Order: sequence, then C-alpha cells, then structure tokens
Amino acid sequence: MSKLKTLNEFIAERQEDFPFATGELSGILNDIVVASKIINREVNKAGLADILGSAQSENIQGETQQKLDVFADEQFIHTFKSGGEVCGIASEENDDFVAFDNEISKNGKYVVAFDPLDGSSNIDVNVSIGTIFSIYRRISKIGNQANIEDFLQKGNAQVAAGYVIYGSSTMLVYTTGNGVNGFTLDPSIGEFCLSHPDIQVPENGSIYSINEGNLEAFPDAIRSYVAHCKETHDDKKPYSLRYIGSMVADLHRNLIKGGIFIYPSSALAPNGKLRLLYECNPMAFIVEQAGGIASDGAMPIMEAELNSLHQRIPVIMGSKKMVEKALSFNS
Ligand code: AHG
Ligand code: MN
Ligand code: MN
Repeated sequence: MSKLKTLNEFIAERQEDFPFATGELSGILNDIVVASKIINREVNKAGLADILGSAQSENIQGETQQKLDVFADEQFIHTFKSGGEVCGIASEENDDFVAFDNEISKNGKYVVAFDPLDGSSNIDVNVSIGTIFSIYRRISKIGNQANIEDFLQKGNAQVAAGYVIYGSSTMLVYTTGNGVNGFTLDPSIGEFCLSHPDIQVPENGSIYSINEGNLEAFPDAIRSYVAHCKETHDDKKPYSLRYIGSMVADLHRNLIKGGIFIYPSSALAPNGKLRLLYECNPMAFIVEQAGGIASDGAMPIMEAELNSLHQRIPVIMGSKKMVEKALSFNS
C-alpha cells in the first residue's frame, strides 16, 4: 500500500509551485484548509442543526442568504484576518471589499476573493456545494490598507486559485499555475491527502451542463450548440445533460470526466449570472491549467476587464474540443 501524501507534505515538496517562496502563499492555503474543515463540519451536520435554512437577510444581488453562507463568509474572514498574509478580501456576501485594519494584515502581500458557499440553494437538499477562492498579489503599497485596485485585476494576474467541494467526499483542488492537483479529506485523520495528482480535463467529453429551462432566452449560438449536443455523436448517442446547479460540483465532474459547462447571457440576464471575480476567474484558471478552455463566448475569461466586484460574465468552459465546437456556432 502506498503512503498517503498530505497537502502539507505536497506543498513542502513542490516549492516550484510557490514562486515567491517566502511561505505566505502556502500560509494562505493553510488558512483556507483550516476554514474549509470548519465549514465542512457544519455542512455535514446541516440537516441536524438549526443552522439549516435562511438567515432572512439578502446579499447585494438580492438573493436570500442561507445561514451557512454567512457562517462560511465569517469563517474565512476571521481566518484570513488572523493569518497575516492577506491585507483584504472580497466575497459574494459583502457589498464592498473588506480591508483589514490590524497592523499584521496591513503588511500582507496578498488579497483573496472568494465565494464562501457556491450552490447554496442545494444546502437544504443535501446536494454538493463548494467554496471558490482566488488569490492575487496586492497592487497597493505594503503597510497601507488594501484598496479597490487590488481586487479589480484581470484573472490572468491570479497567483493561485481553487475550490473545495463538499460532496460525497470533501476535496480541495487548487492551482498555482503549475498544473492542478486534487486532495481528498480523510475524515479519520482530518487531513487533505493527494488523491488526484496533475488533473487533466479530457480533451473531449459527452456531458453538457446548462440550465436548459432557460433555453428560449439563450442566444442563437447557444441554442444551436444545445441542439448539437442532442444529436448523435461518435458513440451513436446524444450527449448527457447533467446539471446540479452548483458551479463547483458541475465543473468538478466535467473536469474529471470531460464535459462542458455553460452559463450564457440570456434575455433574462444579459451578462449571465455568474460573477467574474470570485466564481469565473478562479474556475477558469483551474480549467485552463488542466488543459481546457474558459471563454465568455468572445474571449478568454481571464482576459476580461474588471470594473466592479460583483460583475457578471457569461461562461463556456471545459473540455477543449467541446468548447471549441460551442464557440464555432458564434460565427
Ligand atoms: P451561489 O450559491 O454562490 O449564489 O451560486 C449559485 C450559482 C452557481 O453555483 C450555479 O451554477 C448557478 O448559480 C445556478 O444558477 P441557475 O439556478 O440559474 O441555473
Ligand atoms: Mn456561487
Ligand atoms: Mn455563494
């Protein structure tokens, strides 16, 4: 039996993953691990505890916040604030970014953007949810408080990104720009262990993930691609539609099995629904590092300009050949 490799052992071995090897970036990953283990504990007992259900407040997008959204958000903020490597954060659950004002944080070199719980409408029904994170080097001067410029960087400036999926098992998947690695939480020892080294998204696949209920409102190119998915392919079958309604879970499956994930613009939502800063850019970084493509339909997601923290963008991402085919309907 081969020995389990813990995330910490992996990080210690892979110094090339941490180009500014002064330990801060691995410190941030460690903060994320600690917070996600605590969130995992709460998610696991969501059906038991009173924490289940709505907090009766709304976030900036006017969506009802689930109690676990708020819990997860607070947990990450607390962990980053006390960690010292991060000078500020932006998250789905906060209208504005949070600049940490304690002395140690003002000297932090990084900012983190995150979606503390993604797919949170699935909490009440025991279906997979996730956390998405994106790490940037700050632009503002060390020693000062973080400012908005630190967060409005293009996706291709990310130094690391990843997600945690709270599914039938809990996994952490991340990249620092040297490929993608996945770690599964072994609950018996409380450690994330390397389970999916060097994840490569299959070049082609037979799964498409889109909220087809909105088909009538989608642009012609997307409707044509969906029609293409329903035609028979090389294996004499149409593609399978799989849609969890949790971007992390849908993309995680497609990353491992091959597939395409689409949240397009529509007559209902001209820029789609998903947020560029803390949903699309980090997932795009992962997908591209795994050999896939992440596009907004016209250009790579990670080249999109950011004008505001909660800006939305259409997404088409996943297996290279599937995304290329989907984009070919644009012309
Ligand atoms: P969140 O729970 O963070 O608000 O994100 C939900 C997102 C995403 O995870 C998912 O892909 C999408 O909403 C589903 O939206 P529809 O219900 O419109 O398909
Ligand atoms: Mn989300
Ligand atoms: Mn969320």
